[in-house]
Amino acid sequence: MDLKIEGRIALVTGGSKGIGLAVAEGLAREGVRLVVSARGAEALEAAAEDLRRHGGEVHAVVADVSTARGVRSLLDAARERVGPPDVLVSNAGGPPPGRPSALDDGAWAKGFELTLMSAVRLARGVVGSMRERGWGRIVNVTSLSVRQPVLDLTLSNAFRSGVTAFARTLANEVAGEGVTVNNVAPGYTATARLEELFSDDYARARLLATIPAKRFATPDEVAAAAVFLCSQGAAYVTGQTILVDGGVVGSVT
Ligand SMILES: NC(=O)c1ccc[n+]([C@@H]2O[C@H](COP(=O)([O-])OP(=O)(O)OC[C@H]3O[C@@H](n4cnc5c(N)ncnc54)[C@H](OP(=O)(O)O)[C@@H]3O)[C@@H](O)[C@H]2O)c1
Repeated sequence: MDLKIEGRIALVTGGSKGIGLAVAEGLAREGVRLVVSARGAEALEAAAEDLRRHGGEVHAVVADVSTARGVRSLLDAARERVGPPDVLVSNAGGPPPGRPSALDDGAWAKGFELTLMSAVRLARGVVGSMRERGWGRIVNVTSLSVRQPVLDLTLSNAFRSGVTAFARTLANEVAGEGVTVNNVAPGYTATARLEELFSDDYARARLLATIPAKRFATPDEVAAAAVFLCSQGAAYVTGQTILVDGGVVGSVT
């Protein structure tokens, strides 16, 4: 499908694995000029090499988006190498689980930087030039936890709701200037993150039993929604969250 974004510049963070990589792949197929980033250089380079098979320009920038300095150096590198992004897909690893009664201030501070402030800093860093050019797409990868908190994913439950509220508020500010801001909220998706959180067979079987679709999502299925939100055709969709969860939220029990 031609999403009419060929030649646009897209920055995908957390783009070396899982959902971020699948989004980068979907955008690469549309002929965008890509900047992908993650912390681990080796996996990132391998991902970039793979993405280049689609024939387009792909730049790999190692960066940690959980720090202000990491975001600044990433945005500087992206602008220097290819130009200011027209599309931002804001994504990273999820914060660790922890009981609400037990997480200490240090864990809360880290979760805040990783999950909320990364999205705020990245969006703030790109939105000015998008407004100047009168075109932009910002998509945050969040979680079904924004609609239905997940057991012990306390930091994700709290800070992704913050990302959602930030995105809606920013969407409102820039809606008249050709810039949209949306979220994709994945359900349980077959990636390294899911392996980590649900490593034993019993826990996975119990989790599967709660999913009306009776299977985990593939990263491509989540990416499809994100790529649509980056398209020209999604110009009138803003401030929204698209759940890609196999029917978990709102399911009949
Ligand atoms: N999989 C699921 O079932 C699921 C469900 C709901 C929500 N989500 C959320 O969706 C997002 C993506 O999930 P995923 O399953 O695709 O995760 P994943 O497979 O663990 O991939 C995470 C990606 O982000 C990068 N990353 C992690 N921390 C980073 C940091 N501080 N700065 C820059 N890059 C960073 C990783 O590379 P490096 O480690 O090399 O940096 C990797 O490229 C996560 O926030 C996750 O919590 C996932």
